[in-house]
Amino acid sequence: MSEPILVLENIHKSYSTSVETIHVLTGTNLEVLRGDRIIITGPSGSGKSTLLHIAGLLDLPEDGATFLRGQKIEKKSDAELSDLRAKHVGFVFQFHHLLPDFSIQDNVALPLIIRGEHPRKARMMALETLSRLGVEKLFYKRPSEISGGEQQRVAIARAVAGAPDLLLLDEPTGNLDRENTLQVMEILKKLNIELGITVIMVSHNLNLIPYFEKHYTLFEGKLYPG
Ligand SMILES: Nc1ncnc2c1ncn2[C@@H]1O[C@H](COP(=O)(O)OP(=O)(O)OP(=O)(O)O)[C@@H](O)[C@H]1O
Ligand SMILES: [Mg+2]
Repeated sequence: MSEPILVLENIHKSYSTSVETIHVLTGTNLEVLRGDRIIITGPSGSGKSTLLHIAGLLDLPEDGATFLRGQKIEKKSDAELSDLRAKHVGFVFQFHHLLPDFSIQDNVALPLIIRGEHPRKARMMALETLSRLGVEKLFYKRPSEISGGEQQRVAIARAVAGAPDLLLLDEPTGNLDRENTLQVMEILKKLNIELGITVIMVSHNLNLIPYFEKHYTLFEGKLYPG
């Protein structure tokens, strides 16, 4: 039996504007076991990104508790949170957010260098990860010189080069065609099975459900299996 790597307990999150307060998450629960490959679906505006930001320690809930590797997140300082994020969580967004003035290799190596790796070792780790994802030949190019599918594979390489426990993806194939989408699905499966990285992806695309082992639906602020 795998241990829980991430637990969300009774998470509440709302946003207030000058006009109204909307309650996005209204008691969301989720237990993620090490090695899980999970897809969370839900319509636009249902709170998928909000939930993933909390799961990735990019945002804190108003109420409820988040446990990463058994440690309660809400008790941590900002510095401790950044440290936990850098060591244990990889994040991929719908847009790749690669740095335009750096090579592909340096885009992947930079977070490792910031985390304290020696630059030479970081660049080697970057190349290794790019090869695993089949895009090592692009190492010297800039992000604007590669295709959208390649950009997303590089963004995934950047997220996993430091061997995180948890890979979180927010609609990573939203801008990709069918073939590139399938390539990304294959990559997620490979990272999950070969490296044991726990994967959680959110998407409104129900066609992607078969590529995952567990499926949850986000509805009216709560998660439901299937
Ligand atoms: N910073 C914010 N301020 C105010 N409202 C927000 C903010 N961020 C999100 N919302 C609102 O919260 C709700 C949930 O947003 P969220 O981005 O989590 O949905 P989503 O499921 O990811 O949608 P999509 O599929 O379109 O990406 C939406 O109604 C959105 O308008
Ligand atoms: Mg979203």
